Amino acid sequence: MSIIKACIFDLDGVIVDTAVYHYKAWKRLANELGFDLSEEDNEKLKGVSRVRSLELILQWGGVTKTAAEQEELATKKNGWYVEMISHMTPAEILPGAKEFLETCRAAGLKTALGSASKNSMTILEKINMVDLFDAVIDGNKVSKPKPDPEVFLKGAEALHVAPAECVVFEDAIAGIEAAITGGMKAVGIGSPTVLTEADLVVSGLNEMSLEKLYKL
Ligand code: BG6
Ligand code: MG
Repeated sequence: MSIIKACIFDLDGVIVDTAVYHYKAWKRLANELGFDLSEEDNEKLKGVSRVRSLELILQWGGVTKTAAEQEELATKKNGWYVEMISHMTPAEILPGAKEFLETCRAAGLKTALGSASKNSMTILEKINMVDLFDAVIDGNKVSKPKPDPEVFLKGAEALHVAPAECVVFEDAIAGIEAAITGGMKAVGIGSPTVLTEADLVVSGLNEMSLEKLYKL
């Protein structure tokens, strides 16, 4: 018998690929500030909070802004981002994500979302997946960003399960670290050469099965 009782999913890069929208919005902001943002730079922003992302971008561009200006810039970027995600549809769900969530729930496993994004609920509504989660822990409910395990520990708590009974699905290195620090199993979504600390790495949730889950 497996001890796994719950699965906790990151959103961006696991359920949907919103990185393209984050990139477009940050790039537009960088361009307005007089510099550019490469796709490699954007990779470093995956799983990183909005505030921290802006700090890094300003640093890369060699631009200094006051705290008040930074807040204004983050709000501006978010406005563009929210406009883009308002057009999202279920067609943007990553392959196998919805099916795997349904499989987990049919097997009696609890499910939670554990994301840094304050826009998580909007996205879940747009892609019609709200009902597939027993709990949603997002950027509005946590104070410490990944790799701090807070988001996943709150997820376990909301599901009334112990951390050791949870498996986390993550595409970011910081997220894998957060899961492991929290005492959970971690499945990486992406490349095994990048997500080296994960207990298992798959290219997407379409590669996941209950058999693989119970072997963790
Ligand atoms: C993470 C994304 O899930 O959420 C990051 O990977 C993003 O790119 C972060 O910056 C915060 O998102 P939001 O929607 O609150 O700006
Ligand atoms: Mg992610």
